[in-house]
Amino acid sequence: MAADAIELRTQTLGQQFLKAGKEGFWQKLQGELRLDEKLIGWAMGHETLRVQLFRAIDALPSLTSKAEIARHLREYLADAAQAVPGMASLLNFGTDDPRSPQATLAATTFETAVKTLARRYICGANLEEALKTVENLRRDRYGFTVDLLGEAVVSETEARRYLERYLELMNALATRAQGWGPVPIVDGGPRLQVSVKLSAFYSRFDPLAPDTTRARVGEPVRVLLREAARLGCAVHFDMEQAAYEELTLMLLQEILQEPEFRDRDDVGITLQGYLRRSEQDLRGVLAWAQERGTPLTVRLVKGAYWDTETIEAYQRGWEQPVYNEKSHTDGNYETLIQLLLENHRYLYAAIGSHNARSIAKAIALAEQYQVPPRAFEVQALYGMGQKFLKPVVEMGHRVRVYCPYGELIPGMAYLIRRLLENTANTSFLRQSDLNEASLAQLLAAPPTPA
Ligand code: FAD
Ligand code: 2OP
Repeated sequence: MAADAIELRTQTLGQQFLKAGKEGFWQKLQGELRLDEKLIGWAMGHETLRVQLFRAIDALPSLTSKAEIARHLREYLADAAQAVPGMASLLNFGTDDPRSPQATLAATTFETAVKTLARRYICGANLEEALKTVENLRRDRYGFTVDLLGEAVVSETEARRYLERYLELMNALATRAQGWGPVPIVDGGPRLQVSVKLSAFYSRFDPLAPDTTRARVGEPVRVLLREAARLGCAVHFDMEQAAYEELTLMLLQEILQEPEFRDRDDVGITLQGYLRRSEQDLRGVLAWAQERGTPLTVRLVKGAYWDTETIEAYQRGWEQPVYNEKSHTDGNYETLIQLLLENHRYLYAAIGSHNARSIAKAIALAEQYQVPPRAFEVQALYGMGQKFLKPVVEMGHRVRVYCPYGELIPGMAYLIRRLLENTANTSFLRQSDLNEASLAQLLAAPPTPA
């Protein structure tokens, strides 16, 4: 298929996905907006409020009384909320006394709204709720990967506990799976999958101390991979901030090269298209996979740490590791999709995106390269972008939903990333939900960055 034909196919598919998504949006507008939705709506309209609101949300789990919450709300939000009269009155900034009944009510209202917001992106507070979620997903013909919330642990006891809880999770999945019927569209590889972050395995994960970090993180990774093999569970490794990327790739490649793990094709890594060096990294992984001889999965995402990467590099006077233009990330992402799918004999592709254009392009290219089902899937985060994905399932492609579960304190960093992502001006989901861009703009081909 020539480039023009691929673009035409991308446009056709993109329109189809957006149409499916719109139906969901209009249905939603007929209902009343909940308070958590109002909070997000207000944040999107006012940049200062957005920053302050997310700070207040971040602090919430560590506050132990209603009076403390009320005091924080006042401190973080009273000024910024003046721009939004409805918000100022709802949260009762009129009173100075954090123990007054109005302040207590405001604290309760805010806490409830944040918990509701969290439930939108976090599939359960405990293992049982997570298991129910994955069973519901299978019923609707979606695959899953389960993530136990937690990252950047602060002690070795916490790190050990994290590994133990992953072992419990995989065992619980394997036990429950004994009662599951087949779902052919998602059962083309291992039926079970977990996703993990390496920074949860060692409290001093440090790229400047690569040998110690490799030794300390390597052991739990090996334990996890062994138990996963025994249970028939795939393991996918998330990618965190740019400073960890090189060490993460090196560590995983070393382990997956060991005789015990060399034949495993049920393991995956993640690469982020917003990184300027991501094409070079993908080429490196490809050469390594060709030499290793057994495929592994590459989950291709755009990257979840854009705000912190940008601010940190700016503050430290470093070169920006990420693109500064959203369209450059989108363009690079398409370049990476093409490279990955051209090489489907060596690398299985998991396209992690909620952007109808990016998903459509991936499917158009998968059709062109006749990628077999085992080597191609689309992925979405729980609570995001599923509206575009029903037609993808109906076309016969495997769609996997990333299901994080756990308490709000370990989950807060995750929740804040989702809120930042969804309320950014540049977010595809936001632009398509709020009709902020025309169909042609949403589906326009992005430039390839120089
Ligand atoms: P779009 O709205 O098209 O793109 C938004 C993205 O564009 C932002 O997230 C950012 O990456 C980029 N961007 C925004 N503004 C700019 C700008 N000004 N300049 C340059 N780039 C910009 N992320 C990780 O980092 N590590 C993971 O391990 C990981 N695992 C994931 C697993 C799954 C299953 C999924 C679906 C996502 C995962 N993510 C992970 C999150 C992912 O990075 C974000 O959800 C994704 O970036 C959103 O992109 P989009 O295509 O859905 O939306
Ligand atoms: C994150 O934790 C999904 O890994 C991604 O934001």
